Amino acid sequence: MSRTVHILNGPNLDRLGLREPGIYGATTYSELTVMLECRAGELGVDLVVRQTAGEGELVTWIHEAGAQADGLLLNAAAYTHTSVAVRDALLTLSIPVVEVHVSNPHAREEFRRTNLVTDVVTATVQGFGVRGYLLAMEGLLSLLEEQG
Ligand code: DQA
Repeated sequence: MSRTVHILNGPNLDRLGLREPGIYGATTYSELTVMLECRAGELGVDLVVRQTAGEGELVTWIHEAGAQADGLLLNAAAYTHTSVAVRDALLTLSIPVVEVHVSNPHAREEFRRTNLVTDVVTATVQGFGVRGYLLAMEGLLSLLEEQG
């Protein structure tokens, strides 16, 4: 069965490949998008990949994912650590959500250990670089398979 997966990215992720390459790696956001589309094609997944700097827009897109997708991959970026609105939006969903981080926020500054989303998502993938998105997509699909 063909699945629809939404991948939502928060602020500054459009700067992947340019921002702090020692932490986030050399792959650009557009290269990441191509990697994801490619893998989705192989897996027969219909993919929507979006990035925004706006908290409100991210909230709106989370609602849209709830209405249109079978599952959601979310890298809320800095909003992970600050946004009650993103958390509340996730609480409206009944689809599985996998939280993704390129880096391992727990191995970084203290403030990144505050996480307002991790206890309201289905699973988390962090610290694998951009490859984490592919791992998260495969994990999400296996969860969906289990659901039937
Ligand atoms: C991030 C980690 C966050 O702490 C940070 O604010 C980001 C990216 C990651 O993918 O590693 O912007 O979500």
